Amino acid sequence: MKIPQDLFSEFDLETGSLKGAPLIVRRLSDLQGSFADTKAYEAALKRGDPIIYTVAAMQDVEGEGGLHFGLGRIMPGNIGGEYHLTKGHIHSHRPASEVYIGLKGEGMMLLEDERTGESAVLGLKPSTAVYVPGHTFHRTVNTGSGPLVYIGVYPANAGHDYGAIAERNFRKVIVAREGKPLLLPREDFLKQINRS
Ligand SMILES: [Fe+2]
Repeated sequence: MKIPQDLFSEFDLETGSLKGAPLIVRRLSDLQGSFADTKAYEAALKRGDPIIYTVAAMQDVEGEGGLHFGLGRIMPGNIGGEYHLTKGHIHSHRPASEVYIGLKGEGMMLLEDERTGESAVLGLKPSTAVYVPGHTFHRTVNTGSGPLVYIGVYPANAGHDYGAIAERNFRKVIVAREGKPLLLPREDFLKQINRS
């Protein structure tokens, strides 16, 4: 049995902090290549470099059967119509799954099976949980007007692989249309923005 301090954590929905865990801050400049509309991205960067999201993860435990968990907080907004998002990743240990639990705000999770390319979009808000199976890329998107806060629990041996999705990006995007989220194939969205 670990000492009691290791078995208890406090988190703060207003700051995204998790007591005892480092706060990782992702600013707009850290998200090069994540948003589909590169012109809108560059234009936004010229105006400033705001925090897009933070993650605080408790990853002290190691070994078979152990669990890690992280608190994520995404600020509201969009770049070229595409809602603020996380970089997205797949677990280095591909069979590792994860459970996301919504705590505050309104968002969606974009899932994409690495083996089939099949996508799924699931709502993430308070009183909802999303099960992310193994072998699945996952990205969290804030579609609301305030911060989206959630917790993710995953096996200690999962590991985070960002590179596998960074090169080609997700096949689908979640964009604002008349104030509501719309799921579009990336290619279709790129055609639309290049035409206008
Ligand atoms: Fe994950």
